[in-house]
Parts: sequence; C-alpha cells; structure tokens
Amino acid sequence: MANLFSEFTLKDVRLKNRIGVSPMCQYSAIDGMPNAWHQVHLGSLAAGGAGLVVAEATAVSPEGRITPGDTGLWNGEQAEAFRPIVRFIEQQGAVPGIQIAHAGRKASANKPWEGDDHIAAGHPDAWEPIAPSALAYGAHLPRTPREMTVADIARVREAFAASAVRALDAGFKWLELHLAHGYLGQSFFSPLANRRTDEYGGSFRNRARFLLETLAAVRAVWPENLPLTARLGVIDYVDGEQSLEESIELIRLMKAEGLDLIDVSMGFNTPDVSRVPWAEHAFLAPIAQRIRDEVRIPAATSWNISDAKKTDELIRKEQVDLVFLGKALLSDPHWPYHAAQILGVQMPQGVLPDQYAFWLKRQPKPGEPDTLRA
Ligand SMILES: Cc1cc2nc3c(=O)[nH]c(=O)nc-3n(C[C@H](O)[C@H](O)[C@H](O)COP(=O)(O)O)c2cc1C
Repeated sequence: MANLFSEFTLKDVRLKNRIGVSPMCQYSAIDGMPNAWHQVHLGSLAAGGAGLVVAEATAVSPEGRITPGDTGLWNGEQAEAFRPIVRFIEQQGAVPGIQIAHAGRKASANKPWEGDDHIAAGHPDAWEPIAPSALAYGAHLPRTPREMTVADIARVREAFAASAVRALDAGFKWLELHLAHGYLGQSFFSPLANRRTDEYGGSFRNRARFLLETLAAVRAVWPENLPLTARLGVIDYVDGEQSLEESIELIRLMKAEGLDLIDVSMGFNTPDVSRVPWAEHAFLAPIAQRIRDEVRIPAATSWNISDAKKTDELIRKEQVDLVFLGKALLSDPHWPYHAAQILGVQMPQGVLPDQYAFWLKRQPKPGEPDTLRA
C-alpha cells in the first residue's frame, strides 16, 4: 500500500515521495525573468524534501501575465535564467516542474500586496486583457477584456507550445498547463466567462475546444516520456457553472489527447466563493478520487492540506496519487521532514539534505555533550 513517502513514477519520471510543491506566483520577476528570489524560494522548498517542485504560473506571452512581476517563458533568455534554478532543484533529488499559463481577463493586475486589483487602464504599466468574451470578472478585477479573435486564439495556443519547448530547454521534467482559477483556459470552459457564438463557445464541445487544442499543441512538442499534466478548475460552487460531469468528460477527452495526470482544483470564474467548503481538510479530495476512478487517470489535488496524518491517509486510501501543498510549505519548507516525524517514518530518503541530515540524525540525549563540530 502506498503512503506519503512512497515513490511515484509517471512516465520516465520518478518522485521520491508523494509531496508536490504547488505552483505559487511570487510576483517578483522583472520582464518575466526569474532571479535570485526564485532560486532561493524554489531551492529551499526542494531542500525541504518535496518530491516535486512546480514553479509558479509562468506566462506564455507578455499579455498573459497576471501582474508585471510574473515569470515568463516567451523568450530564450527566460529559459536560460531558469536553468540554474532547475539544476539546483535536481541536485536536491526533487523533480523540477513548471506551470505555464495565460491570465486572460485577470491579467494586468497589481501584486496582491499592492492592491490585487486591475492596474488602471491607461497607466503605463497596464495592458489590455484578452478573453473568450468581453465580460469582466468583476469585484476587484473590473476591466472588460477584449474578445479574442480566432487568430488570437491560434496565437496563444502556439505560445503555449513554444513555452513548453523553452521549459524543456530549461531542463524541466514535468509540465503543468494552467487551466484553472479563472485564467484564460478556464474561462474558455466556463459558461460564466464564455459567451461566444463561434466554434469556441456555446456547447460543451465548443467550450472545451481551446483547452483540447492547446493540450494537443503542447503534447506534440513535449516529449512522450515526460509527464504532461494540467490543473483544471472542476467546480466553482456557484449556480450557472459548468457541471462536474462536464469537467469529468473534459478530463476524459484530455486523457485521450495525452494528458498524464490531472491536478484537481477550483474554477474561480466568479468572485463569489461563499459556498466553497474552506474549512474542510482537503475538501477537493473526494472529487479528485471520483475523477481518478471514473477516468482512470492519476490525480492530484491541493487546498487546505496540511495535517500529516490526514494527508498520508489521502494516499493510503488511494484518493489521490500526489498531494500539492501551498501555504503549509510557505510556513514550513521542512513540512516533509516534520510530517515524517509525526508519522514515525525513519528519515525517508532525501527528505533532508546531507548537510542537515547528519546533525539531526545524531540526536544526542539531553545533557550529553555535542561537540563534534562546535
Ligand atoms: C502565494 C500563492 C501563489 C499562488 N500561485 C498560484 C499559481 O501560480 N498557480 C496556481 O495554479 N495556483 C497558485 N496558487 C494556489 C496554490 O497553488 C494552491 O493550490 C493553494 O494555495 C491551495 O493550497 P494550500 O491550501 O496548501 O495553500 C497560489 C497560492 C499562493 C498562496
């Protein structure tokens, strides 16, 4: 029976445990270039013992950034800048992954700690967001995006494929398409954001088209032996959203196009999140399990996963194959080590770097001298 510290193999990639670092925007890049902050942030999480480290939503084109501080992979320099970060992650025995993204109508925003709202139209830092339909998200993101032409759709789809090639060039071994959280891919799928009357809107098949075409374009350039995964918002907990059955059918179609794992998340297509069961530990896990069983595809999930014993149970009960942790790892990059202690697992492989493990394994008894290196 697998547990949190069992290895996990997907295609030719082997993770040393079932703990993934969920992609987390740092809003700390300039012109899309990752820098020392990203090296330290991702590096410390890799040294913290997670088996998989997925770098933040990285824009496939400049207008696909959420904020001016997002990382990008729209040019070769950005791929070059990711290379030492990737190398360090691998040196820690973790697998380097990256999420590629287009923010759609949520683009051109201020950093969360600088307002989290749209940059005022006309401000020198602002740009025009594009989306399936000229419909604003609302609340703190009130800008009405420009409706994409079919040529825009083709351009963005190809930008995803070109970014995938650059991700490979940078050394990433695991790719996640961001099709969640109200960004571009998600908003094509959601009837709350997509009111198109052409072949990219309306029926389930039409709303799924951009996501499936993008996946196919990426699969064509991303090596067959490396995992191609996607984060999809399968539920919004609001009236008028796509049904869960539609989301499951989409994942079935994505699997047929070559998807290797689904990262189950929420839609965030609307500012109304009042019905989300925030307080429940791993509240998306039952849905992820249903998808895993019905579609027969490896599944992962995140959201409110932090308790070591309950997290271990998610793997033991085969609800998911992998867990993605966000804030728990921000507050404790050594969460894997501490989880191992709570679960009584003796120093699982690679959960601490040698530089730390040697000292922490020795555990001199209270009152004993500890003078090996003073
Ligand atoms: C600072 C921060 C940045 C985030 N950025 C992204 C992102 O780039 N892509 C994404 O899919 N989710 C993003 N999320 C969501 C996380 O990946 C994760 O799914 C979410 O925080 C729920 O997990 P948690 O309860 O363990 O934090 C972000 C979350 C945080 C806290």
